[in-house]
Amino acid sequence: MKNKKRVLVTGGAGYIGSHTVIELLNAGYEVTAIDTLERSEIRIVEGVKSITGMDFDFQKIDCLDEAAMEQLFSSNQFDSVIHFAAYKSVNESVEKPLLYYKNNIGSLMVLLEVMKRYQVHDLIFSSSCTVYGQPDQIPVDESAPFKRAESPYGATKQLCERILEDMATEGIRVVSLRYFNPIGAHPSGIIGELPIGVPNNLVPYVTQTAAGVRAQLTVFGNDYNTPDGSCLRDFIHVCDVASAHVKAIQFLEAKSSDKIFETFNLGTGVGVSVLELVKKFIEVTGVTLQYKIGPRRPGDVEKVYANPQKISTAFGWNARYDLGQSLAHAWQWEKRIRGIQ
Ligand code: UD1
Repeated sequence: MKNKKRVLVTGGAGYIGSHTVIELLNAGYEVTAIDTLERSEIRIVEGVKSITGMDFDFQKIDCLDEAAMEQLFSSNQFDSVIHFAAYKSVNESVEKPLLYYKNNIGSLMVLLEVMKRYQVHDLIFSSSCTVYGQPDQIPVDESAPFKRAESPYGATKQLCERILEDMATEGIRVVSLRYFNPIGAHPSGIIGELPIGVPNNLVPYVTQTAAGVRAQLTVFGNDYNTPDGSCLRDFIHVCDVASAHVKAIQFLEAKSSDKIFETFNLGTGVGVSVLELVKKFIEVTGVTLQYKIGPRRPGDVEKVYANPQKISTAFGWNARYDLGQSLAHAWQWEKRIRGIQ
């Protein structure tokens, strides 16, 4: 009998996937990570190995490749799966909706087929607070209804959750984690996010501007109905996001029911404005940051932050890092990849 449980991590070289592999290895799990490396790099996998001092199985596999997934499941006995592999750019999804539906829905379809065939029951899914749109009440809790998704990316998250809800009768037990805004990098400075091209997301844009890669940050709008007029978000350290996945696996392991579909907000519960974040970044790093106020970005939600009560009660999970630490770690990582002392 094997004594360690084996977790399959799809998208294991990605931003949240790689940090989660660290948490899994540290918690004593065996890990198989797969990734196409289309939007990440092998140095992230090497970084995880060097941070943990542990080896793990990494394979370059696309979840859309049915034959490769079949081969993977036939040669491994997985106890659970964490499915990160998906595209995540809101803008790109508006330009290329078919790419997003095909990749994000298609990969889940293939995965569910093989899980069913090989009787792997437990799945943790990467969802997003984007499923709520602009909620009527904030902090938002898990019972809030889905609003019409602003982007094909958001629609894929809503659709995937619906598909997974229906999987209970197929014997698949699901925890769907609705991430708010993951930021930061591993405290070691060895791994972090690798944005492709010009970043859409706030924190990579901030750190690239501070590093001199971008001339100036534009704050998208200061006329929102918020205390300082800029949008409010719930920024959460990527390592806190990662550790919640280990708790989610343990949550499923402890349940005997064969029908589980549970959604959890994964946020800190603290609403922070874009301008507050910019000021905090300057305060903790001591670097100057060129920024200007620009027009609103189409599709942006005015304010959203989590009520994290459900996850805190069910998992005994709470965020460990605050905004200042998250930004300091993001900056440390940016300096490392740019060779800045
Ligand atoms: C969006 C999605 C989220 C998704 C994430 C990943 C929504 C509501 N949220 O998060 O589900 O997981 O993208 O890509 O769709 N900002 C600036 N200047 C910049 C960049 C951003 O002012 O250069 C502002 C934005 O207007 C926003 C905030 O910073 O108010 C956060 O933006 P961003 O990091 O892109 O994340 P979201 O749009 O919240």
